[in-house]
Amino acid sequence: MEAGSTAAHHPATLSGQGDIDGEIAEIRDEYAASNRVENQPRLNYPPYRSSALRHPTKELHHADPEGVELWTPVFGERDVDPLEADLTIQQHGAPIGEKIEVSGRLLDGDGRPVAGQLIEIWQANAAGRYIHKRDQHPAPIDPNFTGTGRTLTDADGNWRFMTIKPGPYPWKNHHNAWRPAHIHFSVFGRDFTQRLITQMYFPGDPLFALDPIYQSMTDQRARDRLIAHYDHNITTHELHTGYRWDIVLTGSRRTWMESES
Ligand SMILES: [Fe+2]
Repeated sequence: MEAGSTAAHHPATLSGQGDIDGEIAEIRDEYAASNRVENQPRLNYPPYRSSALRHPTKELHHADPEGVELWTPVFGERDVDPLEADLTIQQHGAPIGEKIEVSGRLLDGDGRPVAGQLIEIWQANAAGRYIHKRDQHPAPIDPNFTGTGRTLTDADGNWRFMTIKPGPYPWKNHHNAWRPAHIHFSVFGRDFTQRLITQMYFPGDPLFALDPIYQSMTDQRARDRLIAHYDHNITTHELHTGYRWDIVLTGSRRTWMESES
């Protein structure tokens, strides 16, 4: 779910895809003409309507990492069952859709594996439907698919999920707005304050150019880093197709002690 799915725009005031395309192109041209390199999505990206209301407007508040660790959730290896990485076996039957394995490595900014880290995912089903009270569009819920899973990275930073390829889904950013197929990822770094939330996309999606969330990353290289690669070595005979996507926790090596000193 995107928060914009409940955007407060009256239907009569909704922009069309053409309006959104024009705004995206204007920002793209402005960025291309600048000498800046932006590696992160823009926090306020007007074509993504609700970003205006949702992005931080005050300076970041510095939290004492040691103090935060006293009251934030904790997890241990015993808390995460390896079966939780398989989203296709959570119910009584097999979910509908294209079964896929998505795997990759979790790496720090120097390319070193980050072991024992909690990775959580959530996603729509093959029809593009979430099990969520705010998702009421007319696509079927799959009783055999909840769309959530989690795992821990192994000693070499490897992680893998077995799941169903999610479908695109409509949202209320503008008239006839559709999200490219994606899987939401939450990754914990060395401590809770380093939590990273992002989305993984699938190669060749025709909705990339039209989607203001994807386009809120103004740099093509940054956008490319969110697209998994089809990998025939992960594809398994008569069972499932496979995608590879490596996650780089830039700055995870820079501990808070170093930055404080
Ligand atoms: Fe989503």
